[in-house]
Amino acid sequence: MNCLESRIHALTTALVLMLAPIALSAQAPLTVASPDGRTQVTIALDGGALRYAVRHAGANVVTPSRLGFVFRGAAPLGDSVRITDSRRATYDSTWTQPWGEVRRVRDHHDELQVDVVETKAAGRRFTVTFRVFDDGVGFRYELPDQPALTNYEISDELTEFALADNASAWWIASNRPRLDRSEQLYSEGPVSTLDSVQTPLTMKMSNGTYVVIHEANLVDYPRMFLAGPRMESRTLRAALAPWVDGVKVRGRTPLVTPWRTLQIADRIEDLQPQVLTLNLNPPSRLTDVSWIAPQKYVGIWWGMHLNTMTWSSGPKHGATTANTRKYIDFAAANGFKGVLVEGWNVGWDGDWIQNKNAFTFTKAYPDYDLPGLAAYAKSKGVGLIAHNETSGGIENYERQLEDAYKLYQSLGIHAIKTGYVADTVGGGQSHYGQYAVRHHRKVIETAARYGIMVDAHEPIHDTGERRTWPNMMSREGARGQEYNAWGAEGGNPPEHESILFFTRLLAGPMDFTPGIFDLLMKSAGQGPRPPEQARPRTTLAKQLALYVVLYSPLQMAADLPENYAGQPAFQFIRDVAVDWDTTRVLQGAIGDYVLVARRQRGASTWFVGAITDEAGRTFTVPLDFLTPGKRYEAEIYADGPGANWRSNPLPVSISRRPVTSATRLTVVLAPGGGQAIRIRQLP
Ligand code: NOJ
Repeated sequence: MNCLESRIHALTTALVLMLAPIALSAQAPLTVASPDGRTQVTIALDGGALRYAVRHAGANVVTPSRLGFVFRGAAPLGDSVRITDSRRATYDSTWTQPWGEVRRVRDHHDELQVDVVETKAAGRRFTVTFRVFDDGVGFRYELPDQPALTNYEISDELTEFALADNASAWWIASNRPRLDRSEQLYSEGPVSTLDSVQTPLTMKMSNGTYVVIHEANLVDYPRMFLAGPRMESRTLRAALAPWVDGVKVRGRTPLVTPWRTLQIADRIEDLQPQVLTLNLNPPSRLTDVSWIAPQKYVGIWWGMHLNTMTWSSGPKHGATTANTRKYIDFAAANGFKGVLVEGWNVGWDGDWIQNKNAFTFTKAYPDYDLPGLAAYAKSKGVGLIAHNETSGGIENYERQLEDAYKLYQSLGIHAIKTGYVADTVGGGQSHYGQYAVRHHRKVIETAARYGIMVDAHEPIHDTGERRTWPNMMSREGARGQEYNAWGAEGGNPPEHESILFFTRLLAGPMDFTPGIFDLLMKSAGQGPRPPEQARPRTTLAKQLALYVVLYSPLQMAADLPENYAGQPAFQFIRDVAVDWDTTRVLQGAIGDYVLVARRQRGASTWFVGAITDEAGRTFTVPLDFLTPGKRYEAEIYADGPGANWRSNPLPVSISRRPVTSATRLTVVLAPGGGQAIRIRQLP
């Protein structure tokens, strides 16, 4: 089903039931529940102050919490209001993703809209809309155009999340000023100790319920952080990334904010795949998605991180015509559809982080034959992925956007990788403020007009844009593989990816770039690196498993092509799918391990990925997700004898065995290890 069909389908299957406005004889609390009745939101006035609360399975999740805004030069809005009207709706439809972790997504929710007016001051009005799903809650504000509120400057959003429990949180800080903004290691601790953290914020309550705070449909508004209680309480406050002058949001009414989301799950296995934010984004704006292709890619990339190649021109320049042809040949021979080339465009010489305005996005270095390579790639059934590092020079990039994308389109280049390596963007603005959010939307929308897919590094966090703009494929926004080449702490610790799965990946796909086979980093030229130095802290089988565990519609085989030569385990990277009908989390514990099964889109083949932290573990995995009565063969890439990430990461055992839905597989993972399995149905 294409996108247009799926929209028609969604319209015809949608059950939208609008009930009459609720009689409001009194300012009584209003309640709205999820379709299964297990989650309830209550909206009430507390001495004129608007509050919401959330309960799940009979327990409080969020106790009465503040709603509203502070506008520059005006009294806070939300603290002395009365409810003027409210409306309810029920919605049930199922829509199809053009690509994703799951094909069909059900959007089933109950909605309550509450209109309020200020009882004092200027009589400003706003509406809060709550949508309650079985998997969580979304709410947003709408400020209509009104005489008392036209041009506005918001200096704070007053939304609070007063958590009912001193839950355990897995967090990264939001107040880091420098380059590692989202590229940090996660910490775990009680909510009451949080200071200033990023979303998605994953928490586990003492009754075992998981709660994740995030946002959806961020369009023209700053990114939301959570300012913590600093030991005072358990109340997290929405904190918005500011403009340079301190204002958080500026514009003209009407204003519709992003959705604030609370994903709620009884079991860890239900945290992924996360579709709450997708359901809170508008349907696709693209009717023709035939040019959008989830794919595996290789690239002139890891060599720069190993420092054996350079982005800049000179004797070690990676992006040469000859080198790129080699990568194109390698991609074509192994079924990869994309070749990323970094350092192809003029602007990298000197200090490229400082020289942001030197980047051109249309002019290649003389030793890189852009049109010739694009044609060569096309003749081999491969596409170039154009790298657009901006170093935060947003204005410089925006000036060239149309010309650059027009050029790429004319050359048959359908994918770009953007980058924003810089302390600030656009001359002093926050990476995450309204200015940057507008820019990222502009890139997505302009790229869509030119038939270009986007992979964003140093991005704004994912808030489900891919539903509306399915050319927004993947992004970074966390510590990826590159930290294993040069990270000061010696790379990512073995637990890292099993935290990412339940935190960063709840926002959406991540371009982690797995697949390093030279785990001792000999290619860097100084012999094998000891475990204390930067190198991937995984076994080789875990590198394979990451293709299944860490979802991305663009998956890189990140190592140098020569490191795959003569490696039987490379067959798994050639075989693994990047687009899925179904995803099932089989077992997991945040920071310890995770096992995921996914069925390839439009096929009966399943892939299983299992990863562990520094501890070796053994699991029993019932294959009850397979179709009963069918026979399958499992190809198993397991940690080999004596494998462990620290002293012996390379051994992989490859075996085959017949399986059915009744099989219970024993999955043994080495310390820092993993297992990758392809399960094919037999004829
Ligand atoms: C950081 C990105 O994450 C990385 O992939 C890229 O190679 C460099 N910036 C240069 O753009």
